[in-house]
Parts: sequence; structure tokens; C-alpha cells
Amino acid sequence: MIVLGIETSCDETAAAVVHRDDEDGRGAIRSNIVLSQIEEHAAFGGVVPEIAARAHVEALDGVIAAALGDAGVTLEEIDGIAATAGPGLIGALLVGLTTAKALAMATGKPLIAVNHLEAHALTARLTNGLSFPYLLLLVSGGHTQLLRVDGLGIYRRYGTTIDDALGEAFDKTAKLLGLPYPGGPAVERAARTGDATRFALPRPMRGRPGSDFSLSGLKTAVRLEAERLAPLSAEDIADICASFQFAIAETVVDRVDNAMKRFRTEGAPVEPALVVAGGVAANGMIRASLGDLAAATGFHLVAPPLGLCTDNGAMVAWAGAEWLATGRRDGLDVAARPRWPLDADVLGFGAGIKGAKA
Ligand code: KG4
Ligand code: ZN
Repeated sequence: MIVLGIETSCDETAAAVVHRDDEDGRGAIRSNIVLSQIEEHAAFGGVVPEIAARAHVEALDGVIAAALGDAGVTLEEIDGIAATAGPGLIGALLVGLTTAKALAMATGKPLIAVNHLEAHALTARLTNGLSFPYLLLLVSGGHTQLLRVDGLGIYRRYGTTIDDALGEAFDKTAKLLGLPYPGGPAVERAARTGDATRFALPRPMRGRPGSDFSLSGLKTAVRLEAERLAPLSAEDIADICASFQFAIAETVVDRVDNAMKRFRTEGAPVEPALVVAGGVAANGMIRASLGDLAAATGFHLVAPPLGLCTDNGAMVAWAGAEWLATGRRDGLDVAARPRWPLDADVLGFGAGIKGAKA
């Protein structure tokens, strides 16, 4: 089965062609085109929804043509069209979903409206052929979730953030320190020469039961230190970044450790897997800390290649392929959904959802 995937939920215009073997269910990426809009948003220090939607409109046709061209397939040769339908920026989502509907209508190929979080969640099955169930840490600019993944559409949320997303905390810290957007890579770079022990920043939620995150206290602590020291020297900035990153890494380890324990008590494989996904998974210190934790707890850490951890079309095509293989088809009246939590009934989103917009 060959599926075209389209992703426009935020600031990446992406399309990809993925193959799924009908017999063993293994996946292969035929093409994967990602056009980042970072430069268009950088001047504003964050993603501007209207700019994102317009940029998708301008770029998407070319990105899809490039994905088909790279894969060496025509629209007639594909078996289905998948597009992210949510969660995300509504204007941005509509560009990709409407394009997918038009292509589905013109070609008569089936349409699958993909949940963006589910696409992140299933990527490890494409890259590593992972079997259900597994534990997933999804950490990006918009999402912070610890999920138990039991099957297509079957998710149990172990934890989420009660305020900022993890990537958002990196972005806000960078902004506060005058570092460029996106903040994660900038903070990581600055942290390299910094002293991670200079500031005793809080590890919010550490030691508490459960796996929820809260990052606003840490953000405030960073702001207070920065205000106390202003004007900041390059060394101050490096030390704040290093201390912040260290606090985040230790917090993540504490929250994930609790999720691992819960996963074991609720029925886990003998050698369970922890999958990391989302842009923040690119962070070297967080990856290394999770690697140490996994080694200590007998988990197998699965970190898809960075380009597949951040937003891309291949993950959408793959989620579409997995669903298509079950026989699911979505109607052309399927709606884009700015909010679409994964632990809600994903399956129910298909035929019976008419009129549901939230
Ligand atoms: O998954 P992603 O590309 O887009 C979505 O948010 O959906 O994630 C982007 C987020 C941004 O907040 C960015 O600052 C963060 O991931 N990020 C990082 C790193 N690289 C990207 N955070 C920490 N360390 C990094 N190296
Ligand atoms: Zn994402």
C-alpha cells in the first residue's frame, strides 16, 4: 500500500510518500519533503497563525509535487491520501485537509483524517517496526504528553502539562534571554559552555505521584534570576541555559520514571519500550538522561531519527496507511479540529462525528 501524507498543522509544510507492506505490515519511506517556515516567523519570536496558513497555501502544491516526484509515483498509483486534521492551528490545518479532500475527490482515492499526535505516536512503528504496547513521551512546542500506546486509536494518557509545553518553556526561556527562535536549539547551544549547577532552579512536580508536568514555576524562577543579574553577560546566559536544561532533564526523568512504573503495573512486555518524539527529543541532555533512566529500569529507548521526531509528512502518511489497512475511510465532510486529544475516542472521529467541531 502506498500512501501520500500531508502535514500543515503548524509551521512546517510537509508531504511524504510511504509504503506499507500488506504482508508483514512493515513501512518504508519513499519520499519526505519538509519545508520549514521558521524564517517567516522568527521576526515575531513565535508562530503567527495567519502567516502559517498563507505560507502553507503558497507552498503546499509544490511540496506535494516534490514528494510524489521524489517517490517516483503518480497520484493514480497511490492507494490513499492522509492529512493531519488536528490538533493544530485551524487555518493551517484547513489548507492541508482541504487539499487532501480535493485530491481524494479528483482521484477517487480514500481519505484518512489523521490525528497529529497519533502520527507522532505511531512513527516508531514505521522506523523500528515496534509492536504494541509501548510508552510514549511526546514533547514538542505545543505538546507534552506521556501516553500508553496500546493500538491504533487506543491510548491512555499518563501525564500532560498543566501549563506550558516543554518546547514552549525552552522557547520562552530563549526569548527572555534574547536568544533566537526556536529557543530549544539556541538554549542547548548556549548551555554547552555553561555551569548547570550555578542556579538552583526548581524541578517542578518532582517527587509527586503521577506524571504530569508544570513548567510555569521554573519559567518564573528563570525570569527572577535573569532580572536579578541584569544586564546579563554571555557567561550568565550560558549558566542560566545550562541550569534550566538540567532542571528540565531531571524533571523529565522523574515524570517518566513514574510512568514506567505505572506501565509495568498495567501490563507491559518483558522488555518494554519507551519512545521519544517531538522536537524537544532532539535535546542531547534530555536524550542522554532518558537513556540512563531506560538502562536503569530495563526499558528499551526508541528515538526515531530527528527528522522524524519533528513535524513531517511521513508520520502522517504512515498513520494513514496503518488506518487504511484496517479498512477505515473518512468522509469528505470530515472536519478539522484545533483540539483533538488522543485519549478521546479516535475511532469515533470517522463516520459518526458529523458536526463536531471542538
Ligand atoms: O515537534 P516540533 O518541531 O513542532 C511542534 O511543536 O509541533 O517541536 C518544536 C519545539 C520547539 O519548541 C523547539 O524549541 C523545541 O521543539 N526544540 C528543542 C530542541 N530542538 C527543538 N528543545 C530543546 N532542545 C532542542 N535541541
Ligand atoms: Zn508535532
